[in-house]
Amino acid sequence: MTKSANTMWGGRFAAGPDAIMEAINASIGYDRRLAPQDIAGSRAHAAMLAACGIITDNDAEAIREGLLTVLSEIETGKFPFSTALEDIHMNVEARLRDLIGEPAGRLHTARSRNDQVAVDFRLWVRDQCDQADAALGALCGALLAQAEAGADWVMPGFTHLQTAQPVTWGHHMLAYVEMFSRDRSRFADARARMNTSPLGAAALAGTSFPIDRQMTATALGFDRPMSNSLDAVADRDFALEFLASASICAMHLSRLAEELVIWSSAQFRFVKMSDKWSTGSSIMPQKRNPDAAELIRAKVGRIFGANVALMTVMKGLPLTYSKDMQEDKEQTFDAADNLMLALAAMTGMVADMTAERANLKAAAASGFSTATDLADWLVRELGLPFREAHHVTGSLVAMAEGKGCDLPDLTLEDMQSVHADIRDDVFDVLGVENSVASRTSFGGTAPSQVRAQVAHWKEVLK
Ligand code: ARG
Repeated sequence: MTKSANTMWGGRFAAGPDAIMEAINASIGYDRRLAPQDIAGSRAHAAMLAACGIITDNDAEAIREGLLTVLSEIETGKFPFSTALEDIHMNVEARLRDLIGEPAGRLHTARSRNDQVAVDFRLWVRDQCDQADAALGALCGALLAQAEAGADWVMPGFTHLQTAQPVTWGHHMLAYVEMFSRDRSRFADARARMNTSPLGAAALAGTSFPIDRQMTATALGFDRPMSNSLDAVADRDFALEFLASASICAMHLSRLAEELVIWSSAQFRFVKMSDKWSTGSSIMPQKRNPDAAELIRAKVGRIFGANVALMTVMKGLPLTYSKDMQEDKEQTFDAADNLMLALAAMTGMVADMTAERANLKAAAASGFSTATDLADWLVRELGLPFREAHHVTGSLVAMAEGKGCDLPDLTLEDMQSVHADIRDDVFDVLGVENSVASRTSFGGTAPSQVRAQVAHWKEVLK
């Protein structure tokens, strides 16, 4: 049996679509998430049409009430979604017609699904920017609490994952506050740029009806209408900027997740993850696995993937709308959902983890971590050129390594056998506490600097 033609545009069609055509064409399976935005857009549009004398006040009122009913049906799970009606726009409009009859047919005056979907998706992505900002604020708060507690706890700082110089726990936590705060500003920039309204661009060329685009823009919280109707329906930069910001943020999450995986291992024991954020093994009773951190590390892949996928969808499209653009939504939804989940999980893990202070300190002192302090002392106190000081220090590190001890364990005689002028007060700089306390340059790891930065961030995050 041939299906009957679509009631929305079937005028020139004798038959309905093939079942496979319907399957590839329908987006209602996922774009139903845009229902609140779609209804908000339609309400703004209908109110504007009435204000501009394009439809009657009575019709606008019937549309308004009908849309509220549709929204409540959707919210309560009573809405009869239909795949034959393809997408959220046609599902809502068809139901509106069932509910209010003829006035429903006037809603689509001076509008197309092209500007409609651009509005809906833009509103949705804008909301995600706000949610990302709030979630990042909470994560920064958890990191800041760790930083404040451990402003002067020493730990090894790494380059190449080799012990480099001692740093403070607070300093390390604040590095992530900086990163996640840049993410917030990226989402804020994207939000500001996307906050213009495509509504009224209609199919692509604008409309001959005397519409008021500023009115709908204002009603939907946009700063202004977009100035070019072709651009308005063809643009998906807003989703790409969201996904690009999400990708960078996810990369930051993954780096922190990676550190938590390493730090919570038996080999490092820098942090103890709370029971709330650990899982056990069904066979190995000793295990405490950092699954949430691992999953965050992995979820980054799908967020990057969504960004690449949409870039790829868009790159070959001639202006203006092509159905390819329907593929903008599903992966953006997935990326946003997983970003929010990852941010929430990271916030919980960071808030509930315990730094193992004694282990951090022991590790900080191992691996000749104060070799640079020794070289600096030779420069400052003995006037050696830094290159020579580097060489002398290297010899002393080799000596300590040969003796199986750390630099502070060498005797003064050991030191003087390499450079005769070395004095007893060199030992002051070889301790890790002194080492970090000396790094007082702006942005350095000294507890005094860390406390100043904690105070700064407390103000910012208030
Ligand atoms: N479901 C479509 C999408 O997501 C809505 C726009 C359809 N426009 C069209 N001219 N077929 O892109």
